[in-house]
Amino acid sequence: MDIKISPSMLASDYANLERELKKCSDGGAELIHLDVMDGHFVPNISIGAPVIAAMKRVCNVPFDVHLMISDPYFYADDFIKAGADIVCFHVECDSDIDKTIDKIIQGGCKAALAVKPATPIEAVYPYLDRLSMVLVMTVEPGFGGQSFMESTMPKIKTLREKCPDIDIEVDGGINYDTVKIAGQAGANVFVAGSAVFNSENPAEAINILKENAKV
Ligand code: DX5
Ligand code: ZN
Repeated sequence: MDIKISPSMLASDYANLERELKKCSDGGAELIHLDVMDGHFVPNISIGAPVIAAMKRVCNVPFDVHLMISDPYFYADDFIKAGADIVCFHVECDSDIDKTIDKIIQGGCKAALAVKPATPIEAVYPYLDRLSMVLVMTVEPGFGGQSFMESTMPKIKTLREKCPDIDIEVDGGINYDTVKIAGQAGANVFVAGSAVFNSENPAEAINILKENAKV
């Protein structure tokens, strides 16, 4: 599986988004991870579609939009129009999962489903044939800078055995050490917020993460 690094803009300097995006594209990031929080599905509020649309105008790297919102069906079109390439939403949300996947695919985007740490991986099984990616959260969604939960690794192993070809993304607490653990478990897409943007050299951080992810 191709290894992809998806820096999370949640850890970037929101006063300088164009400059922060350039750090990722110059550094060889394969994706840009955009965390959308509604203050309801998670106890935090971040950015919405207008900010993502503005970022899209100054960045050519594909956008990996992670919706931590209660009603992704209602809002999906806004993110499709804003320029999302992958629209990822949570299997624990309040929307109809099938209809939301259909809307995303009909809108020309790739659909992905995310699972919180306590949610069994089997929850995504009914939808796998229409998903390009599954996101296994390695922290409770809502905040950057939390510690990686190794207890989520068996879910990745189980899914990788079942689906050798699907993209499996991990999100939360990914650093130079934990990227190895997640890579060995079978993940191939790695979100990294603090590890990239708290580094003095984000390009070097992206490279090290990519090297360390190789199993
Ligand atoms: C957390 C977000 C993550 C977060 C990761 O709910 O989904 O994408 O930005 O941040 P780090 O890499 O700092 O754990
Ligand atoms: Zn995320």
